[in-house]
Amino acid sequence: MPSGRVSSQLFQRAVRVLPGGVSSPVRYYPPYPRFIRRGRGSHIVDVEGNDYVDLTLAYGPLLMGHAHPVVERAVKDQLRRGTIFGAPTALEVEVAELLRDRFPSMEMARFVTTGGEAALSLLRLARGATGKGGVAKIDGGFHGSIDQLLVSAGSGAASVASSEGVFPSSVTPTYLLPFNDIEAAEALLERQKDIGLLLVEPVMGNMGTIIPQPEYLRALRTLTRRHSVLLGFDEVITGFHAGHGGAQGRYEVTPDLTMLGKVLGGGLPLAAYGGRRDLLSRVAPSGGVYQAGTYSGNPLSLAAARSVLRWLTPARMRRVERGTQSLVADLEGAFRERAVPVQIPHVGSMFSIFLSDREIRSATDVRKSRTQEYVRFARSMLKEGVFLPQNPFESLFLSAVHSAPDRARVVRAAQRSISRAIVI
Ligand SMILES: Cc1ncc(COP(=O)(O)O)c(C=O)c1O
Repeated sequence: MPSGRVSSQLFQRAVRVLPGGVSSPVRYYPPYPRFIRRGRGSHIVDVEGNDYVDLTLAYGPLLMGHAHPVVERAVKDQLRRGTIFGAPTALEVEVAELLRDRFPSMEMARFVTTGGEAALSLLRLARGATGKGGVAKIDGGFHGSIDQLLVSAGSGAASVASSEGVFPSSVTPTYLLPFNDIEAAEALLERQKDIGLLLVEPVMGNMGTIIPQPEYLRALRTLTRRHSVLLGFDEVITGFHAGHGGAQGRYEVTPDLTMLGKVLGGGLPLAAYGGRRDLLSRVAPSGGVYQAGTYSGNPLSLAAARSVLRWLTPARMRRVERGTQSLVADLEGAFRERAVPVQIPHVGSMFSIFLSDREIRSATDVRKSRTQEYVRFARSMLKEGVFLPQNPFESLFLSAVHSAPDRARVVRAAQRSISRAIVI
């Protein structure tokens, strides 16, 4: 087992100055997390010098891997020119145009800094545009650390009942829907006339990866139109991991509003919300929905984004998808050899490992899977040199720079970890 002495010492210092020793809850796992020194390509190296194949990719952003030379060059060039001006730049225009080309539903976009900020802003816009305060979200959907949507949320929040400090009044009215359940959506929209926005991750990514049933997204589109509710796609993960053009391109469903983040900034903080011109025109200064930020449209992040959007061509996206399919098939084989029931839903470059013999269609199915054994499996994978999320409610990602030998190493580690960590 790789030594963790330096990480352990750093963690002892960290808990004195950082809540739980980390800057975001999902990064903690017992007894202490590995502290990372550097990353390159598909690998990261911890402070002890142990090397890992990285399947976490910072929870999504690094579809081009760590320190990709194209992103590095773009950021260095911009760094020399200045990082922030508090004035418009050509970069904003170029990146918004690139987004519109890739996601035709995003006729206009506003750049912000994080996915959570995009969600907050999108929600305000939906309320401003419809005059209706209610929002429907999916059980297990995670849209950032914001009050109104931190109800039955996934990711790190999936392991706590609810957050202290989120009062019932601040999440009223937020309505919950089970994923992949058209009848429940229909019944809710028939019953509640105060809903202005239905916000959904078109492929769920924060209870692990959950694939939409063939007609689900299309049905949501029809229902929301019928009830004059805006349909928002949170494509912070799927915008890039579900393929070129995101989940909306893959499943050919056009939302009114879209959020992007993570991969968009290539590892730098950047997010965006966008959509129909008539809706985005309501955002200040052209409209009355106020939203502003000092770091919004930050040139350094946008320089990275431009390089990401140019580099991630349809051909490169197809290639990483083929790599994911191959890895998933080999992992399924490894579980099958040991007669361990597993579900590995995948799309594009995202996937999840659920220890379950039943198909995973919603957050309820995920909660019924053997999450404790997944945690043991993930811990063992770490010891075997594969860095995957230690929390059972996250997606795993492959990057465009993972190689066939990387994938083979993951499969070998899985074969050993299945025997060691899972009781059949
Ligand atoms: C689907 C989705 N939306 C929004 C967010 C929030 O983004 P951020 O962490 O940048 O605030 C996340 C983060 O995990 C996410 O997965």
